[in-house]
Amino acid sequence: MRVALCPGSFDPPTNGHIDVIERAARHFDRVIAAVIANPSKEPLFPLETRKDLLADALGHVDNASVESFDGLLVDFANERKVSIIVKGLRAVSDYEYELQMAQMNAALTHGLDTLFLPSQPEWSFLSSSLVKQVSKYGGAVDGLVPTNVAQALKDRFASS
Ligand code: PNS
Repeated sequence: MRVALCPGSFDPPTNGHIDVIERAARHFDRVIAAVIANPSKEPLFPLETRKDLLADALGHVDNASVESFDGLLVDFANERKVSIIVKGLRAVSDYEYELQMAQMNAALTHGLDTLFLPSQPEWSFLSSSLVKQVSKYGGAVDGLVPTNVAQALKDRFASS
């Protein structure tokens, strides 16, 4: 069985993330979307909330499941016996950092490869950080994130 890992901080998941996972799910038998802590980012939503948001948003993708993990991505990949990571690339500016992570992960675990999927042009400007900023100041993010995520952002900023 061909299994791919789609990792990310997903804080929060956007339509760009969903698109990459849906496309990976068409090429692999099974996809594990892994909500993983990024130690260099202070998250808006707790890990388990991000996992629940992503799982709800991916309910229509039968061969995708969502898990959360706090630790090294390579350890999670080894635990699940997965040797392919799939990540989206929005622009050349993403590439440098993504390449560095892909090479570090490959250096830590021999045989762990990363495949990059170019984002669809309609989502290439989209980032979780921008979505949070827009939502924080009352802007509409409907159409950019799954509906459950748009609601979670409204609730989160209404209470702050
Ligand atoms: O959505 P992001 O923030 O680009 O995802 C980055 C993520 C979570 C995949 C990356 O930070 C990660 O792998 N974190 C786990 C810790 C780890 O393995 N660090 C070494 C990466 S080479």
